[in-house]
Amino acid sequence: MRVLVTGGAGFIGSHVVEKLLEKEAEVEVIDDLSAGRKNNLPSNVKLNVKAVHDLSPQEVKGYDVIVHCAAQVSTFYSVDYPEEDFKRNALSTFHLFECCRKGNDNALIIYTSSRSVHGHIPEGKIADESFPFNPSTFYNTHKIYGELLCKIYSELYGMRFVILRPSNVYGPRQPYWMSGWYNFIAYWIKLALENKPIPIYGTGEQIRDYTYVEDTARAYILAIEKKEKAIGNAFLLPTGRGVTLNQLADLIIKLTGSKSIKQYLPPRKGDIMRFVGSYKKAKEILNWEPKVSLEEGLKREIDWIKKEL
Ligand SMILES: NC(=O)c1ccc[n+]([C@@H]2O[C@H](COP(=O)([O-])OP(=O)(O)OC[C@H]3O[C@@H](n4cnc5c(N)ncnc54)[C@H](O)[C@@H]3O)[C@@H](O)[C@H]2O)c1
Repeated sequence: MRVLVTGGAGFIGSHVVEKLLEKEAEVEVIDDLSAGRKNNLPSNVKLNVKAVHDLSPQEVKGYDVIVHCAAQVSTFYSVDYPEEDFKRNALSTFHLFECCRKGNDNALIIYTSSRSVHGHIPEGKIADESFPFNPSTFYNTHKIYGELLCKIYSELYGMRFVILRPSNVYGPRQPYWMSGWYNFIAYWIKLALENKPIPIYGTGEQIRDYTYVEDTARAYILAIEKKEKAIGNAFLLPTGRGVTLNQLADLIIKLTGSKSIKQYLPPRKGDIMRFVGSYKKAKEILNWEPKVSLEEGLKREIDWIKKEL
């Protein structure tokens, strides 16, 4: 099996690459290294340093599977720079799918969307894939656009897609060196290890559903293995457990033995107050379920960041 992973030098992408190699797939990566790192990848994986929107149809030929992970990943960056986000997310995805239509319309394409397409989930409810799209930033609007492209390319040209919607992923290789928001767990761990204040935008009562990166990456493998049933579907990849930012910060402070304090900052535009999701559909069709608890996953990420620092 030949697989191309866009954004494969990044956080989630590099774990997907690792799992594909365990399955003895032949893996190649395209990544512009805007957030990813070459040393996230084993040396035997071919890395083409290039932006997705510069790919040609010729360059996607011959792959059985194309895993699309490359993206600008910060929702708050997208609020500040909507046009840049449009180019790097919506337009890049469109360009990739066009290359596939012209150069390899038979490949299985795994499109990485996000749980954030569902927006705020009211108290007492747990989101599933039938919940409506409810974007709150340009980032998730562009993820929805990508999902709609999957529908159109499959209806018009018979192309085959599986859509995955990861939920607040954390674990080793999360870029702790960047102060953005999507990677805030890694950033908070670094600050906690340095006994520096942990910034929280808003009250800290925002609820998220955190998934360990190896669990998320395993879903990509299952989507390929179970493609007959999976094609044409979208799958949420959460744990069903909601945790507030305050609880998460306290847990990180406890697990690192830090003297850090929480520092409250004004709320940010587009932030949602609550997301908790169900993995029932992923369990039924992919036989996927999260295995690593938040406490265990955080310990592994803390150990990794300690070694890196
Ligand atoms: N991290 C999360 O919590 C989370 C949650 C839901 C969805 N996602 C999605 O998962 C995917 C992977 O995110 P991640 O957390 O691993 O982030 P990441 O920033 O570590 O990975 C993205 C990778 O894509 C590369 N990249 C970005 N734009 C590119 C372009 N135009 N051309 C080529 N390469 C490009 C970056 O260098 C990086 O290596 C993204 O599509 C993201 O939107 C992430």
